[in-house]
Amino acid sequence: MTTDRHFLFLCASARPNGNSLMLARRAAAALPAEVVQTWRDLNDPALPAFHDRRHGDHYDAPEGVAAALMADTLAASDIVFVAPLYWYGLPAAAKLYLDHWSHWMRVPATGFKAAMPQKRVWLVMAHSGSTPAQIAPAVDCLRFSADYMHAPLAGVLLGDANAPGAVADDLAAIAAADRFFTT
Ligand SMILES: Cc1cc2nc3c(=O)[nH]c(=O)nc-3n(C[C@H](O)[C@H](O)[C@H](O)COP(=O)(O)O)c2cc1C
Repeated sequence: MTTDRHFLFLCASARPNGNSLMLARRAAAALPAEVVQTWRDLNDPALPAFHDRRHGDHYDAPEGVAAALMADTLAASDIVFVAPLYWYGLPAAAKLYLDHWSHWMRVPATGFKAAMPQKRVWLVMAHSGSTPAQIAPAVDCLRFSADYMHAPLAGVLLGDANAPGAVADDLAAIAAADRFFTT
């Protein structure tokens, strides 16, 4: 892995120190020391509500939390969604962040749309006993959204666990975490 990589971890669980975070930390520990890591909690501070201003209105440059997250995104080579499975989809905080892409990409001065094809997207997801078919809607949502921006979904790391910390018992997930970012 080249050392000019910069990983942005976007944590979307609605609880602290959950399984997704534990798994992501495990995977991140295997990154070379020179690789920059930035960790953000999408729930704190939370993004504001997204407003669709595509037709008959216009978008100003993002401000506040949105501007900071966009800057984090632009600075990153790799965007890692650390997101548990909620109702067969992405948690609301992760989905809201994706909705804000629709804003950022429409402000040419941000350079967002031009920059995204140079980035890779990853998903680290805890779930509780779901089948591949039940997990697919969440993965596909992220895959298709990333594809739309021409940023490939580079990998998906799943952990089967419910109570916080229980992912440590999913030995296959822990082993997969240790080699996740080397792919
Ligand atoms: C609102 C909510 C919805 C959930 N929906 C699902 C689901 O659809 N499928 C599933 O397998 N687990 C579901 N779970 C269980 C979580 O995915 C599981 O507890 C996971 O370990 C939480 O990850 P975290 O510790 O990173 O927050 C749900 C949990 C919550 C709180």
